Amino acid sequence: MNHRKAVIVPVSKVEAVREELLSKDMLDHYRKIKASSTLGKGFLEIPVTGGVAGMETIEQPDPEYYIRQYSLRDLLQDTIPEKDLALVPSGWHVLGKIVIVSIDERIGEYRRDIARKLLEIYPQCHTVIQDRGIEGQFRQPQREILLGTSTETMHKENGCLFRLDATKVMFSKGNLYEKKLMSTVGSGELIVDMFAGIGYFTIPMAVHAKPAKIYAIEINPESFVYLQENIRLNKVGHIVEAMNGDCAVLTPQGIADRVLMGYVGTTHEYLEYGIRAIKNTGGMLHYHETTPEKLIFERPVSRIREAALREGRQVEIRDCRKVKKYSPGVWHVVVDAWVY
Ligand SMILES: C[S@@+](CC[C@H](N)C(=O)[O-])C[C@H]1O[C@@H](n2cnc3c(N)ncnc32)[C@H](O)[C@@H]1O
Repeated sequence: MNHRKAVIVPVSKVEAVREELLSKDMLDHYRKIKASSTLGKGFLEIPVTGGVAGMETIEQPDPEYYIRQYSLRDLLQDTIPEKDLALVPSGWHVLGKIVIVSIDERIGEYRRDIARKLLEIYPQCHTVIQDRGIEGQFRQPQREILLGTSTETMHKENGCLFRLDATKVMFSKGNLYEKKLMSTVGSGELIVDMFAGIGYFTIPMAVHAKPAKIYAIEINPESFVYLQENIRLNKVGHIVEAMNGDCAVLTPQGIADRVLMGYVGTTHEYLEYGIRAIKNTGGMLHYHETTPEKLIFERPVSRIREAALREGRQVEIRDCRKVKKYSPGVWHVVVDAWVY
């Protein structure tokens, strides 16, 4: 395998390209995504396993490796029969001190061997968890411990600390661009985060942009406990007021400069509350949804326009972004709309 090939993309495109490479199984998990050595800060090098149709590849002058010597597959050569080695996972997430991996059921009998080898690769980690997806309105992960005992960890991202229990609440390591973007807006403003989770957007925004106030609403009591903990850990209690309950009931009206609707699935059902939250002189709505490819961005934009019309408000669409591939043929998208 060539360990130096990469594609260069502008920062704004990195999530979409990473998803595309992931779906083509072309992402090289042994090297880090890093700033471009040739084009500078605005561009990133995404490591790939070979030439990618339609993309120009380069040889990285200074690749950065996660793992220097062996792949997980190499480490399991003596344990798993050769015919099944191709099923060994080539990717996983490391959240704080926990490795989260999805293992094909056909090699389920080797899952503890796989977990042991992952802990050899990541000696700083204490637990390996099997991932079976995210379910329901509360976004509860379906996960099982393979090795280790503690499912609670502290994850650091963009200069912020997130304590969480990886079996109880989700933490999407994707959405990096969106989370970074949200940490640059809102300075001095009044913000409503209607679907706050454990503070994915609220915490970086409070730490970096320093709004005057953020109302952070979260319905899942388990996520709410971690939201409160993360507010404390990041010392932003003077900015963030956490509220436990349904945003359809708790969202304040007519006061916000900016409203975050960072939830997908049935977000459109809450548009009226998001729009009502925005003050009469105008404010920004960041509306997320999962959209079938053919309806990007037409459906989210028309949903916002129709909801605004019902509320007797006007809308200017300021930006539309693809966040990441959600499922085959469906994308998680964001629309920024100025509502007045
Ligand atoms: C998907 S999470 C946020 C994830 C974050 N945007 C990310 O990308 O990592 C959305 C949160 O909204 C919460 N939620 C769902 N419905 C809600 C409602 N009606 N009111 C308040 N919170 C709600 C869920 O419990 C979940 O924690």
